[in-house]
Amino acid sequence: MEQFLSARTRLMKASQVRALLRWVGRDVISLGGGVPDPASFPVDEIQDILREVLSTKAAAALQYAPTEGIDELREELAGFVRRRGIKASFENLLVTSGSQEALDLLGRILVDRGDWIIVENPTYLGALQAFAVYEPHIEGAPMDENGVNVEAVEQALRKASRGGARVKFVYTIPTCHNPTGSTQSLERRKALLELAEEYDTLIVEDDPYSYFTFEGEEPPSLKSMDNSGRVVYVSTTSKLLAPGLRLGWVVADEALVNALAVAKQAVTLQSPTLCQYVLLEALRRSLIEKQLPRIKEIYRKRRDVMLEALGEHMPEGARWTRPRGGMFVWLTAPPKVNLDALLPLALEKYKVAYVPGTSFHVDGSGHNTARLSFSYPPLDSIREGVARLARMIKEHT
Ligand SMILES: Cc1ncc(COP(=O)(O)O)c(C=O)c1O
Repeated sequence: MEQFLSARTRLMKASQVRALLRWVGRDVISLGGGVPDPASFPVDEIQDILREVLSTKAAAALQYAPTEGIDELREELAGFVRRRGIKASFENLLVTSGSQEALDLLGRILVDRGDWIIVENPTYLGALQAFAVYEPHIEGAPMDENGVNVEAVEQALRKASRGGARVKFVYTIPTCHNPTGSTQSLERRKALLELAEEYDTLIVEDDPYSYFTFEGEEPPSLKSMDNSGRVVYVSTTSKLLAPGLRLGWVVADEALVNALAVAKQAVTLQSPTLCQYVLLEALRRSLIEKQLPRIKEIYRKRRDVMLEALGEHMPEGARWTRPRGGMFVWLTAPPKVNLDALLPLALEKYKVAYVPGTSFHVDGSGHNTARLSFSYPPLDSIREGVARLARMIKEHT
């Protein structure tokens, strides 16, 4: 069948993270996928909402709906993001099938072959997958515990303008970053916005995790500080209600929302109407706000257990981040340890899964790094998983 595949398909790479999900539930402890704890799902409320939606609005809820999303939901989402400091109205909102679809649509409407985009290095693997098919030139800017290195972003912007290239956008996950767990400082947020202004480019802000910052102040979103409509804000219900709803949203300049909607017509036509009605009712009942304290508690405890286990078991020379929220810790093993090459052994012999850091890097670096997720395994498994990983690292240092 190879001969029939398009050149574009050959650019697509399967996600190592999804492949790892296969190992969940066997005797392998998975610190791999960022799967939410099912204890965080508001099952009773969703059951109640579904019953109500189907008994009062079935004709609409089971029908086709506008590509942009049902009107009441766009209104309700605009109100939801306004309460988080983002200036938005109905026209600025697009409902998508998870934020993953939003990333693909953004690539589709913004990127021509050879256009530059700047991403954090490392960054969310799914974003790299989404953008790669549109054949951009991707520049990576390194990260530290305060988020992306803004000077490196500026260097990339300068390099592009010297070479006459167009940087279409800077893609960033400023709060509780996937995969590193770091949160961008306020100064860097301001600096990034100034750079976007100076170099006339857009910022794509991907924000699934800021809602459950469980330590310290939650910094303002870039979108809430955006006075010129340069920030495209992307978020999702996946970690706030349930990923099975497959709903996300974009907040952007109206012209961009319109272009995204035209692109979406050809991709999914619309996101599932029934799920949209569920989300609408959930927002009307303030279900997300009600959920947040419980979600924060769940993940704070999980993070603490992982940090404690890392402190107890990891050998000299290993470092890791201390996330203020989200689902991920970023581990840096001593330079000699190749966590990419060791993954098969980790699965077969040590019975522990993680995502090798190389998959998140745009330049193939990071061989001694890994993303560890604390979101799903039981607490004892987190402890045992970290102990197993530490044993492997010690034996290969
Ligand atoms: C940074 C980031 N963006 C986007 C997504 C996609 O999420 P979804 O499509 O479920 O909204 C994820 C999922 O893990 C993520 O971590």
